[in-house]
Amino acid sequence: MTYADIHFHLLPGVDDGPETLDDSVELARAAVADGTRTVVCTPHVRTDFVTDTLELAERVRELREALARADVALELRCGGELGHDLAGTLDQPRLEAIAQGPAGNRWLLVEAPFEGLTEEFHAATGELRDRGFGVVIAHPERVAYADTKGLADIRHELDRGSVAQLNAQSLLGEHGADAKRAARAYVALGMAGLVASDAHGPLRPPSLGAACSALLDARASARMAWRLTREQPGRLLDAGMPAPMALVA
Ligand SMILES: [Fe+2]
Repeated sequence: MTYADIHFHLLPGVDDGPETLDDSVELARAAVADGTRTVVCTPHVRTDFVTDTLELAERVRELREALARADVALELRCGGELGHDLAGTLDQPRLEAIAQGPAGNRWLLVEAPFEGLTEEFHAATGELRDRGFGVVIAHPERVAYADTKGLADIRHELDRGSVAQLNAQSLLGEHGADAKRAARAYVALGMAGLVASDAHGPLRPPSLGAACSALLDARASARMAWRLTREQPGRLLDAGMPAPMALVA
């Protein structure tokens, strides 16, 4: 079994990920070397980067062709990392263009704002649920006060069926001590849904393999490490959102 990575800035020239097509091919090659076989291309969908998601399918198709020419065996899917402040401005086709999961159980990757999960954030995810989409929250462990107030704020979301996606780099300590501590707390408290790389380039590389080892170092069980890095990402793509999990604490 290989990795599926649901959060990955792989498209060239659209956000703060790779700048050129060649950079994207090299990043894709690094993902394959790490054991990844499927990547959801998730550029920032925000006012400062991508604003029209209907453009993305063509960009993914172009990158897919470049990978084929370079003999890089990586399956690509078209997604996006949605900023909550844009959620209300996108019509249904533009949300659907970056959603994943099977028909009837579609979901969106929504970026956790670094200032915290505000009332505006909860209102935006509520609107997305009302419009038929589950919510996967990108890197909640990176928000301010993630290991204190952030843990309480995220419960509001988990109670409503959202899933918390941790960054591999957080588990590795590459996003700082606070994010690492918060990521470990998510795992220990049973509040982590899955791990993704949030790769951007050579300085933020694909690292799901290392994250799996870091989970074991943090005394997660082998079953939990497998679940967070391998089982759940693939399951989200194939089967969609899980039923809300009972929290253990
Ligand atoms: Fe990201």
